Amino acid sequence: MRAIIPVAGIGSRLRPHTYSVPKVLLNVAGKPIIGHILDKIIEAGFDEATIVVGYLGEMIKEYALNNYKIKFDFVEQEERLGLGHAIYLSRHTFSTNPILIILGDTIFDVDLKLMIANRQTQIGVKYVDDPRRFGVAETINGHIAHLVEKPENPKSNLAIVGLYYITQPLLLVKCLEEMIKSNARTKDEFQLTDALQMMIERGEQMKTFPVEGWFDCGKPETLLSTNQHLLGLQPVPAPIKGVVIQPPVFISKQAKVSNAIIGPNATIADNAVIENSIICNSIIGEGATVVNSLLEESLIGTNAIVRGIYKRINIGDSSELEFY
Ligand code: G1P
Repeated sequence: MRAIIPVAGIGSRLRPHTYSVPKVLLNVAGKPIIGHILDKIIEAGFDEATIVVGYLGEMIKEYALNNYKIKFDFVEQEERLGLGHAIYLSRHTFSTNPILIILGDTIFDVDLKLMIANRQTQIGVKYVDDPRRFGVAETINGHIAHLVEKPENPKSNLAIVGLYYITQPLLLVKCLEEMIKSNARTKDEFQLTDALQMMIERGEQMKTFPVEGWFDCGKPETLLSTNQHLLGLQPVPAPIKGVVIQPPVFISKQAKVSNAIIGPNATIADNAVIENSIICNSIIGEGATVVNSLLEESLIGTNAIVRGIYKRINIGDSSELEFY
């Protein structure tokens, strides 16, 4: 079974972190966002994945190949022409077998086995109060009648979450191809939603699949709340001498933590060094150093150094801040 994972976005809302690391490699609850997604699909039995990369794609490729054993195909989307275009570029990796498309920057708490057990095309949706910034599904008797990308006047509150199980991938490719050849864009991009709507018009039966656990990682606040949610599912770590642990937390075994209060909701990544500090609701990146500081709601990039800080900060990789 094959999953298609588009990850080409530049993650501008997560700058400065995404200047040096692609969004999907940002650490949340102890591993990169895409690590959570790959674990989820592998657990559901997927053994092939097409990853559509763009911005800082080599880093994503290296992470996937170094950490996972499934078969990967990497496709490069050089121009950012939309999600439909990203999927179209990966068409040579599909066969007639069903595919799962899963957006690489969103973590879903969902039973994928249940989704794929229904041998019918399904679109993951969630009821939201204001769906205008999402694709929207309009249904009749449980079947999808229309899919509309970011409508100004939505006729339903069912937002498309970014999880699609497609049982007729070749029909999807045909619709994407027609859309691209006729340059049919919505909001200037080739939309997957529009191609799916074309499939419906050609007789493809689609159902919605309810997704309650939909965790966005697109901006610092949502990354931190997703971190909090995922930490809550993890076991309490082993005690560390001289360290007060307030679960939920993730503390890498490769981190060096001394004389500190960690948690709640703190992730301390591999090789981080924490001394004389209090850290809560924060993510401390790989190899970062935090000394004599109190950090709350902070994102500290890989190898960044923080000394003597008592506030909320958001600094990118390899930065150095010292206050005395
Ligand atoms: C994409 C899809 C949209 C969906 C959303 C979910 O939009 O085009 O239909 O609702 O993902 O996050 P984007 O967020 O890339 O604009």
